[in-house]
Amino acid sequence: MVLEDVRGQPLPAIDVFSLSIKALKDHLNSSVEIKNIALDDRKTKWVLTVPAIWTDTAKQFMRKSAEKAGIPRDMLTIALEPAAASIYCQTFPSAGCREIVEIGSRYMVADLGGGTIDVTVHEKIPNGTLKEVTKASGNGCGGTSVDDEFIQLFVRIFGGPIMNSLKSESPESYLYLLRSIENVKRVFQPTQTRKVNFTIPYATLDDLCQSNFGENIKNFVSSSSLACNIEICKDKMRIGPLFVKSLFKTTCDNVITLIQSVLQQGMVANVSSILLVGGFAECKIIQNSLKTAFLSINIVLQDDSGVIVLKGAVLFGYKSNIISSRIARYTYGVSICDYFNESIHDRKRKITQTGKIYCDNIFDPFLKINTSIQKSKKVFNRQSDWRLFASVYHG
Ligand SMILES: Nc1ncnc2c1ncn2[C@@H]1O[C@H](COP(=O)(O)OP(=O)(O)OP(=O)(O)O)[C@@H](O)[C@H]1O
Ligand SMILES: [Mg+2]
Repeated sequence: MVLEDVRGQPLPAIDVFSLSIKALKDHLNSSVEIKNIALDDRKTKWVLTVPAIWTDTAKQFMRKSAEKAGIPRDMLTIALEPAAASIYCQTFPSAGCREIVEIGSRYMVADLGGGTIDVTVHEKIPNGTLKEVTKASGNGCGGTSVDDEFIQLFVRIFGGPIMNSLKSESPESYLYLLRSIENVKRVFQPTQTRKVNFTIPYATLDDLCQSNFGENIKNFVSSSSLACNIEICKDKMRIGPLFVKSLFKTTCDNVITLIQSVLQQGMVANVSSILLVGGFAECKIIQNSLKTAFLSINIVLQDDSGVIVLKGAVLFGYKSNIISSRIARYTYGVSICDYFNESIHDRKRKITQTGKIYCDNIFDPFLKINTSIQKSKKVFNRQSDWRLFASVYHG
């Protein structure tokens, strides 16, 4: 897999991931070195977190990247982010949701991150551990999907070619714009009535307007179809508050729809609270939208929501046994070969071996989606099936 930077320059994803992990590792080493502590790689356990909705291949990729960064395989644990968050909330519950530590309580952990929204429902069972009630669900509607709406707004004002030029010819200005979007996202309040002052890479955009349209940026924006909501004032862009709010709407709606769809699943009943974790959970607009959409459920923002997954990962390193069962997100199986049966098998997969007729490549599931799996339980142990496969196939 290859990733691209803002200018479209490619770099293998494994390099990007392993260098990022290595930077964290080096940072830890240099932070403790100053305290005269030397870390022994053979004794340092690492916990890397991943969204619960990642595929097994993506989790495997993370493991490979960590190994490439110098973390020994046997000292690495991959933790699911909502599980890490849940362990933290169980250990240090916020004042508004202390009931989640009681036996029998059921609650949802909604990890609202940058790229993903990751939703899991946990139940505290009599032995004090947590069981996953439904398989983790999620979508790509994290905080960066609001950034995309802002970028689309700029495309509507200045046009795609100008924004592409900004990206390719002046990437530092483009990054400046992204940082400015981040700032607006953090400070904008749902009840805000005054216009939002948006810092933009003024000089670069002004140059691009002059060279492409023969007009300065102020005149160009005032003649655009969005002029009733947007104006240039000195070196800032001023945007009407309702217009800014509308840029959060699609993301908020998608988060609500996802949570609704999980709550409507048959096995999910009696969810008392939704614990909001992840950086995007600190966004006031999303908090308000969720409170309005789920009036009968206790919506609780955890203190330090942006770092709960990180803190929970440290706890996970010590007590990963607290998650006692999970729900399978996929159906797992093997490809087998069996005697051909006209009534059930596909003719296209009919093969002949040593005079006998078989059906090749039959998917034989050994674990079905939505099945509850106990921790440490070995699911695939069907030696006999392998023997059957081998003996049938080789006649
Ligand atoms: N106070 C805030 N208000 C609004 N958004 C915020 C705030 N703080 C952080 N964010 C947003 O939260 C997102 C980052 O959240 P987080 O750090 O949980 O993501 P991540 O774990 O890196 O991503 P992912 O879980 O998708 O892998 C960013 O989109 C950021 O803009
Ligand atoms: Mg996250």
